[in-house]
Amino acid sequence: MDVDKKDSIASDSSDQVVNPWEVSAKDGGKIDYDKLIDQFGCQRLDASLIDRVQRLTSRQPHVFLRRGVFFAHRDFNEVLDAYERGDKFYLYTGRGPSSEALHLGHLIPFMFTKYLQEAFKVPLVIQLTDDEKCMWKNLSVEESQRLARENAKDIIACGFDVTKTFIFSDFDYVGGAFYKNMVKVAKCVTLNKAMGIFGFSGEDHIGKLSFPPVQACLSVPAVPSFPSSFPHLFPGKDKLRCLIPCAIDQDPYFRMTRDVAPRLGYSKPALIESSFFPALQAKNGKMSASDPNSAIYVTDTAKEIKNKINRYAFSGGQDSIEKHREIGANLEVDIPVKYLSFFLDDDTELEHIKKEYGEGRMLTGEVKKRLTEVLTEMVERHRMARAAVTDEMVDAFMAVRPLPSMFE
Ligand code: TRP
Repeated sequence: MDVDKKDSIASDSSDQVVNPWEVSAKDGGKIDYDKLIDQFGCQRLDASLIDRVQRLTSRQPHVFLRRGVFFAHRDFNEVLDAYERGDKFYLYTGRGPSSEALHLGHLIPFMFTKYLQEAFKVPLVIQLTDDEKCMWKNLSVEESQRLARENAKDIIACGFDVTKTFIFSDFDYVGGAFYKNMVKVAKCVTLNKAMGIFGFSGEDHIGKLSFPPVQACLSVPAVPSFPSSFPHLFPGKDKLRCLIPCAIDQDPYFRMTRDVAPRLGYSKPALIESSFFPALQAKNGKMSASDPNSAIYVTDTAKEIKNKINRYAFSGGQDSIEKHREIGANLEVDIPVKYLSFFLDDDTELEHIKKEYGEGRMLTGEVKKRLTEVLTEMVERHRMARAAVTDEMVDAFMAVRPLPSMFE
């Protein structure tokens, strides 16, 4: 029996739509994550699981776990059970290379995956779906391939270990064992099933779904969940479990994957899923690559970061200083506090800011100033790391090769 049976949710006509292509909600655009967990049928990542991570890895859990950025999962507990018994797993994440410059929201899964790789000492495969973006974003094949390599540099700059990490682009790698799994997956998914899971309806134009290469693109993100897709990495390890860190909009892909896995004799991949990083204006569910003022990019200068925060970051502070001193900021809607809760490591300082700002002793300007410092430093660090990534390094990460010390 498959437990991920909430099939017709992506097209749910109610008030929020979350799928790989669209994230939107009525009522001011605020995503109701509790409801999403319910709709998708995944589980909440609770404190006891986070404690377990701490025990098993003997280190403080990542900020994104402590602060609930990664808030939902599927079978993460089973992966930890197995790990406790001495059975390792591998990590799989990916990126659709649709733009040259990444914004902070794009970095979140990679920062988190790097932590998981280090903490659990496990191998990682990173899929660059250049084919997916070529198909959906109307980019040429050559342009999507170029973007994939550019994005690989940003990903490498997050600090992954080349002895444990395989990065591949679909256009380069699909074939052989990977392609066989693609076809096996595709044969298990009926049109009705795909319409339900991905939210297509009878009104969608046929290019979206019935065109065979598009269908292949739907199964492509599923395939790296199966170890046999990487014979150079996991020969004879068909039972190795896969854990996928991703934003929750990717859930439909993996609901489909989990649905077909047992029929192919494979284990279901486990998932650990994040909420979205909000736009500066806090208007919609996530940062948008199409509105440059809604996001901080890893290529922004210190001046641009400062201006964007001061000008656009939605403030929960009060209109007048008197009123602010009297009732304090509304932290629930305040973007600077939200961003700090993603990127300010120091728990004590964050609590201090929340208390002082929430009770009106600290003003919006001061909080924005601190946020500007934190983000400028982070972006600067990223810029330097990326500048140090050479083409040879990209080739090294993308070479089809065994990784002999990947579990050490
Ligand atoms: N579909 C994702 C995107 O458009 C890319 C992707 C492929 C991915 N496989 C993944 C993301 C696994 C997270 C985990 O960006």
